[in-house]
Amino acid sequence: MNHLPWRLISRFTLVVFTVSSASVVLFSVIFRERLGWYGPKGSLFAFGISVFLMVLAGVWSKPFFTPLIRLLHTSRFSKTDGDEFHEVSFAEESFGEFSEIESSIEDIRNRLKSRTESLSVEREELATLMGAISDGILAVDLEGGPLFFNSKFALLFGGVGFAERKPRLFELFRNPEILDAFDRALKKGQTVPVKPVAIELKEGRRYFSISVSPLRRESDGIYGAVGIFHDVTELKTAEQMRIDFVANVSHELRTPLTSIKGFTDTIIDDIRSQRPVENAFLEKIAKNSDRLLNLINDLLDLSSLDAADDRADLLHRGKVGTREITERILHGLKDSFAKKRQKISTEFDAGMVTADSKRLEQVLINLLENAYKYAPDEGEIAVAWKKDGEDVLLRVYNSGPGIPREHHPRLFERFYRVDKGRSREMGGTGLGLAIVKHILQRHGGTVWVESKEGRGATFVCKFPG
Ligand SMILES: Nc1ncnc2c1ncn2[C@@H]1O[C@H](COP(=O)(O)OP(=O)(O)O)[C@@H](O)[C@H]1O
Ligand SMILES: [Mg+2]
Repeated sequence: MNHLPWRLISRFTLVVFTVSSASVVLFSVIFRERLGWYGPKGSLFAFGISVFLMVLAGVWSKPFFTPLIRLLHTSRFSKTDGDEFHEVSFAEESFGEFSEIESSIEDIRNRLKSRTESLSVEREELATLMGAISDGILAVDLEGGPLFFNSKFALLFGGVGFAERKPRLFELFRNPEILDAFDRALKKGQTVPVKPVAIELKEGRRYFSISVSPLRRESDGIYGAVGIFHDVTELKTAEQMRIDFVANVSHELRTPLTSIKGFTDTIIDDIRSQRPVENAFLEKIAKNSDRLLNLINDLLDLSSLDAADDRADLLHRGKVGTREITERILHGLKDSFAKKRQKISTEFDAGMVTADSKRLEQVLINLLENAYKYAPDEGEIAVAWKKDGEDVLLRVYNSGPGIPREHHPRLFERFYRVDKGRSREMGGTGLGLAIVKHILQRHGGTVWVESKEGRGATFVCKFPG
């Protein structure tokens, strides 16, 4: 009979039988006077037998208790050490018939141990993954209380002590679109995409496109909802900039075209009614055509620079002599400066600059035309090339009222002008500085303005060496 239950029962019976026999013998010794079974020698012998039987019972019952004691011992350790499992092997000692129980317990322990290990690895992987995701993720229960969230979510919307406060959804967001999306996911089990919504954060207004999905368990249905918050602020700003740009271009084109059309109509009328044609009208038409042409040329420049963003080869960089190029451009503008009796000075600390010479010409022309336009009659204009470590700085200064500080951050935007009327009056397109900035960016450099009110303005271009 090798069957485990049978072996257990027979061993148990044997132990019970031995213990009972030992007890009967012991009682007969204790009550020997009343029973009168043995004399003094006989009772000593009977006592010996009883002790022998007890020891035998102990040996036979050892396999019952040892595993139990061991089990209790290790489980107490397991409890105090959390999910750590101790390496206690039951195989070290044999328990006779219990070796099978012993090995199955060990088997369960080992499986539990490896399951716990793989669970904690999974948990770590998930935490790393959630931390690496650039979108904010928040899961809430049926009452809107947070179930889990990733670090990005806490960073964006959490504020101080978010993890401890555990605020409800309606405490976090006021936007009805967001609350409604969670509501529908929780109550109707729908996956709800939310169009970009504006959310006011500490660092300003940002736009998020949100998708909310229900969380389901097979046993008890929907138990929560998870929302993914994707930051689309950059996209939204770029889109807005495109819209503004098209509106600006249309407006800028319409103004000169309207006046060309107006003057042409008047001239046609004059010719029909055989009146003499006013010279001034023709001049206005010519001036506005120039404006249109300038604008279109600047727009084409910008668009070719934009296209070049994706094709680095469109820039032909090489060593350019600073004196040679500066003097050539100044010579071209000589008559303009002379008209306003402006004084020009130059300085060439840096003899060479690494740049695309055509683009560099454009930078110089745009900055010097501005200097000429915005410096007063008999004003001063200075061009200086300086070394700055490996880099080369180009400084273009003009005297005059300068540019108030509040305009500095926006000065290089397309169509931004400090004084719209004055700029148009002087044939400006409002694109010159935007082109300069773009060219510098293509060279890996930067441009900025230094100006104190009433003390002129200096535009500084930094070309990397
Ligand atoms: N040297 C300067 N001094 C004062 N203001 C300037 C100077 N350069 C540029 N600005 C201001 O910056 C605006 C944008 O310049 P720009 O892009 O070249 O456009 P535009 O010259 O066609 O008006 C100008 O309208 C003007 O208000
Ligand atoms: Mg200009």
